[in-house]
Amino acid sequence: MSFLSTALDRVKPSPTIAVTQKARELAAMGRDVIGLGAGEPDFDTPDHIKEAAKAAIDAGKTKYTAPDGIPELKQAICAKFARDNNLGYTPAQVIVCTGGKQVLYNALMATLNPGDKVVIPAPYWVSYPDMVRLAGGEPVIVECGIENGFKMTPAQLEAAITPNTKWFIFNSPSNPTGAGYTADELKGLTDVLLRHPHVWVMTDDMYEHLAFDGFQFATPAQVEPQLYDRTLTVNGVSKAYAMTGWRIGYAAGPEKVIAAMRKIQSQSTTNPCSISQYAALEALNGPQDFIEPNNVMFKRRRDLVVEGLNAADGITCPVPNGAFYVYPNIAGCIGKTSAGGTKIETDEDFATALLEEENVAVVFGAAFGLSPNFRISYATSDEALTEACTRIQRFCANLK
Ligand SMILES: Cc1ncc(COP(=O)(O)O)c(C=O)c1O
Repeated sequence: MSFLSTALDRVKPSPTIAVTQKARELAAMGRDVIGLGAGEPDFDTPDHIKEAAKAAIDAGKTKYTAPDGIPELKQAICAKFARDNNLGYTPAQVIVCTGGKQVLYNALMATLNPGDKVVIPAPYWVSYPDMVRLAGGEPVIVECGIENGFKMTPAQLEAAITPNTKWFIFNSPSNPTGAGYTADELKGLTDVLLRHPHVWVMTDDMYEHLAFDGFQFATPAQVEPQLYDRTLTVNGVSKAYAMTGWRIGYAAGPEKVIAAMRKIQSQSTTNPCSISQYAALEALNGPQDFIEPNNVMFKRRRDLVVEGLNAADGITCPVPNGAFYVYPNIAGCIGKTSAGGTKIETDEDFATALLEEENVAVVFGAAFGLSPNFRISYATSDEALTEACTRIQRFCANLK
């Protein structure tokens, strides 16, 4: 009998965390590594949010909280949904968790039974399929290629749904492609869902505030109010507020699902960190004016990286309208051999050789379910991005 849980056989460790770790190790050995793997902003949490956390500590807000979050924060989340998304929720329909990751995990653990299927467009955020498997469900991966901007079409969604489909996981703007669905594009998908009343939507809106070129964010329950009763709207403070380490995410949806998630949370982490909850309260209720300048900076970096990558032999990089990722295609590099002698048969070979030979850490596309590509997180300095592009261009020019 195996000591370790057989559930572990169904999952693999997060490849994005593995790449970041490998880059850190190489840097610690003295190598001049440029890490473009980590999915987090490079700027610090704004001061007013830090001050709120310090005040919470000084005021002794250091005890257990209600499992689903402090009432003030749940109220602020309701206000956020009303303000930004025109969605009405009551505190009983809201839960706060330890990061967006735990929101998604709790939701899947709370709802999946063996045989349940979850439709996931690829490229996807690395954790979705493994979380589904861990929770006993089956991911149904639908490849959404570069030809449609990495977005799912209504026909693809229609074809993927079966009587066993429980959830459709939707993420816009997307990690790893940065692609955002317009309200019209989203309406095409929600129309399909209206025809399948047994399918619920888990919408991961983590990158809502990171949008460029006038892109207007939209979320399923807003675009199609008839889906309100079967939508879990997931969001968090990690990305827009540069609070990845504070670990606060939240969701709103039908009370029965929120109550089930609360039950799981009460038997696992008890509650999200009390101090972080007060920081998140300030993030949501406090000034939002730093978001716009950050987006101006991100857009500049996006343009820099897209141009630099498109100048590399064999790489095609579309221009995304959100998040802080690009997902270039490297079909033109496959089958070649690097200067260091590595045969590039897959995007993993490409990423490995790029790290070994040019000290640039990117995440290979297979990790996100669509190849041959890689993901760059451009949430780092202009200098690092410029140098990384130079190295990638050199790496590609040397492929024979
Ligand atoms: C699409 C997406 N969803 C969820 C998360 C998880 O966010 P958090 O750090 O709040 O757990 C991430 C983080 O990278 C993400 O990219």
